[in-house]
Amino acid sequence: MIAWLTGLSGSGKSTIADAVDRALAAEKRHSMVLDGDNLRLGLSRDLGFSARDRNENIRRAAEVARLMTETGLIVIVSLISPFVAERAAARRAAGDIPFLEVFVDTPLAVCEARDPKGLYEKARAGSIPDFTGISSPYEAPQAPELRITTRVETVAESAQPLIVELLRLSAMPA
Ligand code: ADX
Repeated sequence: MIAWLTGLSGSGKSTIADAVDRALAAEKRHSMVLDGDNLRLGLSRDLGFSARDRNENIRRAAEVARLMTETGLIVIVSLISPFVAERAAARRAAGDIPFLEVFVDTPLAVCEARDPKGLYEKARAGSIPDFTGISSPYEAPQAPELRITTRVETVAESAQPLIVELLRLSAMPA
């Protein structure tokens, strides 16, 4: 199955993905995280942040995720994936593999206050073009399978509903 985490930069996607990955391992499930920052170091090294390049980034991640599920892995994808249409395409690419769209719903103001990589500051100053939430749109999911908030919750609290759902979907016979 695929858990597809979408949300703004700094929303907490990668942190939650890692927490879920570790919790699944503790329960003897095999999982793997596909993270935008990592993919962009290799598989998507040739891509930038235009709408066209983001689409291609998401397409590649969706195809890789599908291939990985064929080996029985639970794949946790962590990408801004800002457009409704491209997330729908990722779901289509999954075919009959269970696909959970997970909205990491952290408000822009909170992401901007966290600014873990200092990118919002640069984007506001105009030195990063097409920055999601600032100069490029983020289309929030209207009907995600799961919505996670991170504003006041701990990482463990935010990750818990997704962990529970993935364990349920991958329930093993006793
Ligand atoms: S996506 O839109 O194609 O899904 P992806 O998740 O791979 O994006 O990459 C987002 C990460 O790239 C951000 O967390 C941030 O670290 C970095 N980044 C650099 N430039 C931009 C930009 N213009 N918009 C958004 N993120 C950017």
